[in-house]
Amino acid sequence: MMRVLVAGARGMLGHDLLRALEGHEVTAPGRAELDITDPAAARAAVAGQDAIVNAAAYTRVDDAESHEEEALAVNATGAGVLARAAEEAGARFVQVSTDYVFRGDADRPYPEDAPLDPLGAYGRTKAEGERLVRAAHPGAHIVRTAWLYGRHGASFPRTMLRLAAERDTVSVVTDQLGQPSWTLDLARTIVRLLEADAPAGVYHGTNAGQASWFELARAVFELAGLDPERVLPTDSASFVRPAPRPAYSVLGHEAWGRAGLPAPRPWREALAEAAAEGALAP
Ligand SMILES: NC(=O)c1ccc[n+]([C@@H]2O[C@H](COP(=O)([O-])OP(=O)(O)OC[C@H]3O[C@@H](n4cnc5c(N)ncnc54)[C@H](OP(=O)(O)O)[C@@H]3O)[C@@H](O)[C@H]2O)c1
Repeated sequence: MMRVLVAGARGMLGHDLLRALEGHEVTAPGRAELDITDPAAARAAVAGQDAIVNAAAYTRVDDAESHEEEALAVNATGAGVLARAAEEAGARFVQVSTDYVFRGDADRPYPEDAPLDPLGAYGRTKAEGERLVRAAHPGAHIVRTAWLYGRHGASFPRTMLRLAAERDTVSVVTDQLGQPSWTLDLARTIVRLLEADAPAGVYHGTNAGQASWFELARAVFELAGLDPERVLPTDSASFVRPAPRPAYSVLGHEAWGRAGLPAPRPWREALAEAAAEGALAP
């Protein structure tokens, strides 16, 4: 049994962390109870904990382009503050990070030690968060994830099912590749890392394999018993948004084997289980 503090516990990942931590003694403050940018609050919150999981973040990727300072305060300064407090309290620390720390122009999966090279503001703030966390807490685990969906938040699969009820067809991009990842799989993976007392460093917490958003949309339609042909292919040029998206966001999973832990399972398996338990319902 570990005493674990989950910062950002009301977020999409936060909710599933609480489920994955069943059997442990968990403290689960939302932002109103613990603002991670407040050093005094961070120190008070980590006291007596064995481990801290930081699931708090500024996650609005497009808004971050025009509010980078605000995003930086949470994703970098706040993460560093919490990591320092954990280090001082002798608690372990898990920082959740993102594929957006990479440019996305590779043609093979990014290894854990690939150089960071973010495309946009959100990625820059998360990359700086990784740097500050490592500096504050040398024993920290950094777990990068991507393309998350879960029962307790807005997600791409849920948007697809909502659109399916409103329109005949939905156009989805074929030219961005990534790893659709279930928050519950990620949460269980993070708990395993802590329970196993795995070596410090970077781990990639995405489901295995790769897909385009188009392939993911078709898989979501199929699992919901809808005709996948209603999902039509398009490309990013017709979907311009404020923040640029990485074209290739596939992360390598080598660190799990090195730590003697099982690598994440294929994304289709996770998606099917999530669908079966209603986690994709619009
Ligand atoms: N979703 C994805 O596809 C994805 C992909 C890659 C990486 N990630 C990473 O995964 C982690 C979890 O993301 P998520 O999808 O669960 O995000 P989420 O649903 O937006 O949850 C983030 C939570 O953090 C809270 N928060 C914001 N500022 C805070 C502060 N100063 N102090 C304390 N809490 C604060 C938010 O509260 P408010 O809502 O009140 O602001 C929200 O409850 C993040 O580190 C994110 O960068 C997510």
